[in-house]
Amino acid sequence: MSLRILSGRPFAEAIQAEVAAEVAAIKARGGPVPCLAVVRVGEDPASAVYVGSKVRTTEELGMLSEHLHFDENVSQQQVVKAVTQLNERDDVDGILVQLPLPKHLNEREILELIDPEKDVDGFHPVNTGHLMQGYDSLVPCTPAGVIELLKRSGVEIAGKHAVVVGRSNIVGKPMSMLLLQENATVTICHSRTKDLPAVTRSADILVAAMGRAGFITAEHIGDGATVIDVGINKLTDASQARELFPPEIADKRVSSIGEKGSTLIGDVDQKAAYQKAGAFTPVPGGVGLLTVAMLMKNTVKAAKMRRAI
Ligand code: GUN
Repeated sequence: MSLRILSGRPFAEAIQAEVAAEVAAIKARGGPVPCLAVVRVGEDPASAVYVGSKVRTTEELGMLSEHLHFDENVSQQQVVKAVTQLNERDDVDGILVQLPLPKHLNEREILELIDPEKDVDGFHPVNTGHLMQGYDSLVPCTPAGVIELLKRSGVEIAGKHAVVVGRSNIVGKPMSMLLLQENATVTICHSRTKDLPAVTRSADILVAAMGRAGFITAEHIGDGATVIDVGINKLTDASQARELFPPEIADKRVSSIGEKGSTLIGDVDQKAAYQKAGAFTPVPGGVGLLTVAMLMKNTVKAAKMRRAI
């Protein structure tokens, strides 16, 4: 069976073009320009890259952005005050608090403070509740992006067995609900699942989202399965890279470790995916690109819903 590499780029570009057109149409009829506010705390390097990309894309698509950056030692009270002010501002349509937050902050209190109508991450209990009940809501961007990628690449979901490995609030749980909404038969697996390979091997669609580099190997993948790799991990060991990447990619990845000290790998052993999967999303270049695109889509959606524009 030949392998189909499901690159996220064309789909992310298509979604962003659709969002840009919608923003232009809102402006053309004299409506307000949608605005996304991003709150970042501390100096986590990955968060800085992600937030930079979110802010840049927002502006590229013709929207307004605001980036609030707090010192690592900011108090809970200061963050609460900032979010409260963003909630109160009519010109702000979307509010995103980049995770992870430093340990001394109460993440739950901050996320639950965000006005559900501005909750473009879809993490507020009102929105997760709506998702659970099958109502239209603001849905977490990464799992929403996976659904877009499956649909736009013509992978059938209805009636298929979808297995999600990982049960996080950001990916695993909302992913399972979205697949259920698309009429898949859904199994959620986690660290306590018995005989994980037997369960995952029966998947038509396998979503790996547990945050463990190259954990899903050949024994976990059924022949011809669609494998969606949501993990983003850093690999620093060249010999491990030789094991986890197919020969045609391994050389490049090993030299990247030599030059930059690391290379990115998902939760799937890519060599195994190349041998057994029917379709596979690469890391980088797979679902990650869709996360930002879906954030843009959620920002316009939030603006249109709240301001009736
Ligand atoms: N950190 C990692 N993924 C995400 C995400 O989707 N949203 C936010 N806010 N933080 C994250």
